Amino acid sequence: MESQTPTLLDLPPGPRQPRYAQALQWVTRPQEFAVRQRERFGDVFTLQFIDGQPLVVISDPEDIRTVFTGSAEVMHAGEANVVLGPILGSRSILLLDEGEHLRERRLLLPPFHGARMLRYEQIMAEAAARELDSWQEGETIEMLPRMQSITLEVIMRAVFGIEDGLEMERLRVLLRTMLQETTDMRQMALSLIMGPDSDRLVRRLREVLDPVDEELYRVIAEHRRAPDLEEREDILSMLLLARDDDGQPMTDVELRDELMTLLLAGHETTASSLAWAFEQLTHQPQTLERLTAELRDGDESYAEAVIQETMRLRPVLPLVIRLLKEPITVGQGRFRLPAGTRVAPAIILVHLRDDIYPDPYQFRPERFLEKPPGTYTWIPFGGGMRRCVGSAFALFEMRAVLRAVLTNFDVEAAGGSERIARRSLTLIPDHGGRIRIAKRLHSSIEAPLEAGAAAA
Ligand code: HEM
Repeated sequence: MESQTPTLLDLPPGPRQPRYAQALQWVTRPQEFAVRQRERFGDVFTLQFIDGQPLVVISDPEDIRTVFTGSAEVMHAGEANVVLGPILGSRSILLLDEGEHLRERRLLLPPFHGARMLRYEQIMAEAAARELDSWQEGETIEMLPRMQSITLEVIMRAVFGIEDGLEMERLRVLLRTMLQETTDMRQMALSLIMGPDSDRLVRRLREVLDPVDEELYRVIAEHRRAPDLEEREDILSMLLLARDDDGQPMTDVELRDELMTLLLAGHETTASSLAWAFEQLTHQPQTLERLTAELRDGDESYAEAVIQETMRLRPVLPLVIRLLKEPITVGQGRFRLPAGTRVAPAIILVHLRDDIYPDPYQFRPERFLEKPPGTYTWIPFGGGMRRCVGSAFALFEMRAVLRAVLTNFDVEAAGGSERIARRSLTLIPDHGGRIRIAKRLHSSIEAPLEAGAAAA
């Protein structure tokens, strides 16, 4: 049965400003705006954005647990992500709910299992070395595009299984054009105002998507013909061999939609997190010094804490959304949210709680050496049945890139601290995370031979 969208009267209180004003502040100053509302209304409040649908924001770990552990029948995410449909395709895991989502998740999870990540270490180290080799002593570098170039190459090789240089270059150009278009803010605003199906938008999208789709279907067909599929390490090969509980393989359309999803979910997010890591580190010289020394000694435990702290203070996704199919209660019993409510565990807010993180605005990785992150208090990858499939992949890649940069260069800040800006769905440093190369330590930069084998 379809539930109706509840009106503001049915929902917890929130700011009374017009929805355009709320949307503008959310887009331009997400952290300040969200924190201000929590100070005013408490841990549960209702926002309204351009699409006119209310969004109930929660940031108490108990409420977040309620949502993340709620049943798949009650907590729909696919329905809440419908705006991504025209790009990702209707068979994308991000667009599905309940049984269909579970089937897709069971197919996708095994190739991303933590233990498998060592196999991708060589690819990650090589992609980083290729990018780093051009960095010159004394130059100022905007990290975000450089990190995007690494994460794109990693996805093309590790996920799509492309090794041929020319093929990779052709796809890189097509993907760049498509990514530019789909992460464009104006495009985003248009889609919110006009709805994702508006004719003009769909036509423009098709122009950039069709050539990419053609290429993806070609890659899938080539894989299907490969006689050595079982020996291949890339994720597409594993997905081609995977069978669901009924013994059925994935169709070409499903494979295309998941490849596009993995690209869009994994490329920009990881690159933005890396850009933030360098932005934060270079403005915190003692932390940078400790991390650099430990990485050069081959010790990675502090790197892990640095990544956790980066993702706490600068999460790249501010919140996740669920559409309730049945009522739930939040705010220690104070608010009953009716079916049809869109509820949002706010990553950006729970990470700034001073009852969990003393001095929450301080970048202090040591806090995670003292106490590991909690399941419902450190949620940059979401949680429960929809927790990020690629979290181990992203963490592994971030460590590989931090290691590659800091064992080959001395880096420092190139300006003041950067503000949080928004690019489509992700939060990025407003100048792209600029750093200065103070010293280049080696004349040529190469990936350590068999990085994966060494780590194993
Ligand atoms: C720093 C990097 C990343 C961040 C911050 C991140 C964050 C997230 C978050 C918050 C969700 C949950 C969405 C929800 O609950 O509705 C999610 C889901 C997902 N992520 Fe990531 N992600 C990252 C990297 C990756 C990578 C590298 C991949 C794969 C290559 C990936 C693939 C996915 C997929 C497939 C889902 C959907 C899971 C589902 O619906 O069951 N992500 N990610």
